[in-house]
Amino acid sequence: MKAMVPAAGLGTRFLPATKEQPKEMLPVVGKPVIQYVVEEAVAAGVNDILMITGRGKRAIEDHFDRSHELESLLERAGNTEKLREVCAISELANVFYVRQGRPRGLGHAVMCGAQHMGNEPFFLMLGDVIVPNGECLPRLKAAYERFGASVIAVAEVEPDQVSRFGVIAGEEIEPGLWRLTDLVEKPSVAEAPSNLAIFGRYLLTPKVFEVLPHIAPGRGGEIQLTDALREVLKTEDIYAIKTSTGGFDTGTILSWLETNITLALASPEYGAALRESLQRLMEQR
Ligand code: G1P
Repeated sequence: MKAMVPAAGLGTRFLPATKEQPKEMLPVVGKPVIQYVVEEAVAAGVNDILMITGRGKRAIEDHFDRSHELESLLERAGNTEKLREVCAISELANVFYVRQGRPRGLGHAVMCGAQHMGNEPFFLMLGDVIVPNGECLPRLKAAYERFGASVIAVAEVEPDQVSRFGVIAGEEIEPGLWRLTDLVEKPSVAEAPSNLAIFGRYLLTPKVFEVLPHIAPGRGGEIQLTDALREVLKTEDIYAIKTSTGGFDTGTILSWLETNITLALASPEYGAALRESLQRLMEQR
């Protein structure tokens, strides 16, 4: 199965850091966000990854390419560990790129990848969301194999957070598994049909490519993927599975800080030292 990774957003919630730098290249515990996404896909057996990029996103392409100058420098310095690490990035997967000429929303970005995906189901992985522990894509795939329908990963969020996400409504047919009846993009707290939020991992049937060209701009004046899936729901079932962790959104300064702290605390390399310094800083307050 192929994966599509939309990474064309302008990162306006992270200015000025993202003025000339893609938000997907921001480091999280020493690695760019998008490398986590590619590694997650590779761990799930995906070898063909299509990124939807745009203006100002060249750093992403360079990151997954060879870097001869850097490699020969590391070789001359005898830094074999870093050399291996740097070379491995360019060998992770076959990464392809399509540019979204104008930022017209996530739905439009997905439409830009239609030709590469062909008439096959595919993983859709948002390029600024890190999903730890590798269980999400295999669970999406298992549900797809069972139902032959699109599957969306969701996580419970605090009720006052729903307006940041696409939110699903559905019938819980088994614990943690829903057959959707509706989905809404960024509803108000009052309108939200549940607190089950879409956080950035989907397995979609190619039906979405049929409906997308007919979707009118929705919330924020953008062509919304959620609106397209609502249309798919008229002719195909869509399921949702609840994951234990959800995703770490890195698209705002606060969520990026929280992601860094959470993942660094869990890291064998930095966890203990960071815990100590955080404790010290909190005591000083
Ligand atoms: C997008 C989707 C939304 C989803 C969210 C997850 O919104 O449109 O349905 O819940 O990603 O991060 P964005 O965050 O790009 O505005």
